Amino acid sequence: MTEAILRADSLHKRYGELEVLRGVTFEVGRGEVKVIIGPSGSGKSTLLRCLALLEEPDAGDVMLGGARPGRAEVGMVFQRFNLFQNMTALANVMVGLTDVRRLSKREAREQALELLERVGLKDKTEQYPEELSGGQQQRVAIARALVMKPKVMLFDEPTSALDVELVREVLDVMEGLARDGMTMVVVSHELRFAHHVASSILMMDQGVIVEEAPPGQFFSAPAHERTRRFLALVE
Ligand SMILES: Nc1ncnc2c1ncn2[C@@H]1O[C@H](COP(=O)(O)OP(=O)(O)OP(=O)(O)O)[C@@H](O)[C@H]1O
Ligand SMILES: [Mg+2]
Repeated sequence: MTEAILRADSLHKRYGELEVLRGVTFEVGRGEVKVIIGPSGSGKSTLLRCLALLEEPDAGDVMLGGARPGRAEVGMVFQRFNLFQNMTALANVMVGLTDVRRLSKREAREQALELLERVGLKDKTEQYPEELSGGQQQRVAIARALVMKPKVMLFDEPTSALDVELVREVLDVMEGLARDGMTMVVVSHELRFAHHVASSILMMDQGVIVEEAPPGQFFSAPAHERTRRFLALVE
């Protein structure tokens, strides 16, 4: 296995009485793609939010390359695209560079255009989110995360709010990223994508990782009854 770049060590998180993460440990090697599946409420989004430093775990550590990650080092893409509605696609991608990185407008524009081209939206840079399809909006959101040059990209059900015919264009962008060596953690029930792109698949249930295996093994011979039952539901 390659050197671990991202490591979650015994993460615990509770909301009041509810223990949502009950000791989650796993690591992601450089350039690996881990796909997380599991039932609603099992803690998948909470786990990603802890990895993205949007949520403070009650116990346990998140380490990136052996240190606490800086926020810009972890990019996150959400189920709902979370774009600024009053800004064009280009402005949405530029804003992190100008307001956080303090780049000049010119420099930010150049980098943002490059990323928008990479996600196939060169001709949509001046559109506002409401003038874009869901798939296009999600690709803007991916460009906006990528432009900050994160070391790891997290995706929380990036295609589950999309009409079926738009799912593919977003998955294609993600597959391209994986091919280019991006380290990724993806919560998704797109099992064909998972089979094709994942280095390994993690099954999460009730705040713990029940099992982790390479896709071939995970789908053909899941070790746990819980995984088998869940796969039967989503397939
Ligand atoms: N901010 C919060 N305050 C209180 N409870 C929360 C909060 N966020 C999540 N929870 C609870 O934690 C549990 C896990 O939520 P989480 O969103 O991580 O699940 P999930 O696996 O992503 O589910 P889904 O597949 O539906 O997205 C749920 O019971 C949820 O209600
Ligand atoms: Mg979720």
